[in-house]
Amino acid sequence: MADVNVALIGYAFMGRAHSNAWRQVGPFFSPKLTPRMKVICGRNAKNVKAAAAQLGWEEAATDWREVVARKDIDIVDISTPGDSHAEIAIAAAREGKVVFCEKPLANTVKEAEQMLAAVKKAGVPHMICHNYRRVPAVMLAKQLIDQGKLGRLYHYRGTYLQDWVADPNVPLFWRLRKEAAGSGALGDIGSHSLDLARFLVGEVTEVIAALETFVKERPLPDNPRKKGPVTVDDASASIVRFDNGALGTIEASRFAPGRKNYNAFEINGSKGSIVFNLERLNELQVYFTGDDKSVQGFHDVMVTEPHHPYFKAWWPAGHIIGYEHTFIHTVYDLLQAIAADKMPSPDFEDGVKNQRVLAAMEKSAEAKRWVKI
Ligand SMILES: NC(=O)c1ccc[n+]([C@@H]2O[C@H](COP(=O)([O-])OP(=O)(O)OC[C@H]3O[C@@H](n4cnc5c(N)ncnc54)[C@H](O)[C@@H]3O)[C@@H](O)[C@H]2O)c1
Repeated sequence: MADVNVALIGYAFMGRAHSNAWRQVGPFFSPKLTPRMKVICGRNAKNVKAAAAQLGWEEAATDWREVVARKDIDIVDISTPGDSHAEIAIAAAREGKVVFCEKPLANTVKEAEQMLAAVKKAGVPHMICHNYRRVPAVMLAKQLIDQGKLGRLYHYRGTYLQDWVADPNVPLFWRLRKEAAGSGALGDIGSHSLDLARFLVGEVTEVIAALETFVKERPLPDNPRKKGPVTVDDASASIVRFDNGALGTIEASRFAPGRKNYNAFEINGSKGSIVFNLERLNELQVYFTGDDKSVQGFHDVMVTEPHHPYFKAWWPAGHIIGYEHTFIHTVYDLLQAIAADKMPSPDFEDGVKNQRVLAAMEKSAEAKRWVKI
């Protein structure tokens, strides 16, 4: 068994999820390459040292440039906000590292294309962390579609709703500023729904979209008595056409009270439908037109059997899993792809395609018309 040394940049929300994944992938999945949690990088020396101890990293660092240049690092895991993805990924690629990057790939199409060019030039494996592809129920949905069980696909109805910024007193932190986040609900959560649409249905060829910012000013994080402008969307709603003739809708909002992390989709085809909701992620609802009429109807499949994707590594049937497992599955597939000398998926090519659709949605919202990709 070979070891690969991992460096993680950024360790707040996503960095913690990734740390957990790097720690658990070996014991549960026995990948062909065993990851070694070598170094974690943040900006505050004291905090990053504490995080290293808590999350299980061997070393702590404060300069990502030094980290990506280290000869002993094999994989650079980028879990920072979008405004630093391109710079770190391009530098890591130039150093010959495997680059694993959080979504959205970048804040602009241009940056995403530069990242793709850099990893291609360096000939290194690259992957974007659209972890929801690796929910077992989502993988099962993919298998059903690929096996033709839904027939010709007619609709994708993707909805990703949250409510955590609906309170106008939430301060103007990085996710609400265009220069840091690129866009708002659109790039943050709409990008996941779009990625699932591309994964499950096909390439998006044309979009028409509307964006809205409901709360236009918010308290500044370091001076709450003052307010600054929100420069991203709070919500987006899009109609999309796919290359196979399917029609879709993709809605993303952080202003949906009661919806905490409602990443849901319904797909309808000539032979049936499937429904998924992340808040009940161990289940997939299915309906098949060919079922005996006397028992026909939507029914829930518990996607927790050993024959379901990824589940053999976990618990006995019915012993459910959660959000953190999607990241473990993602890094497992990354490690297996590297070991097999294959490109992991989704890769930066997917990241660029997603980014082009997101940009087209923004353009469409501004121009108030359909935009081709
Ligand atoms: N896959 C998912 O489901 C998912 C969920 C949430 C966030 N994300 C993505 O993960 C990324 C990070 O989001 P988050 O919610 O974890 O943000 P966060 O604000 O919680 O954490 C960002 C971290 O990056 C660090 N950081 C920023 N600039 C840095 C630099 N120059 N050097 C070192 N560290 C730096 C910050 O100190 C912080 O630790 C974003 O791209 C976001 O879109 C993905």
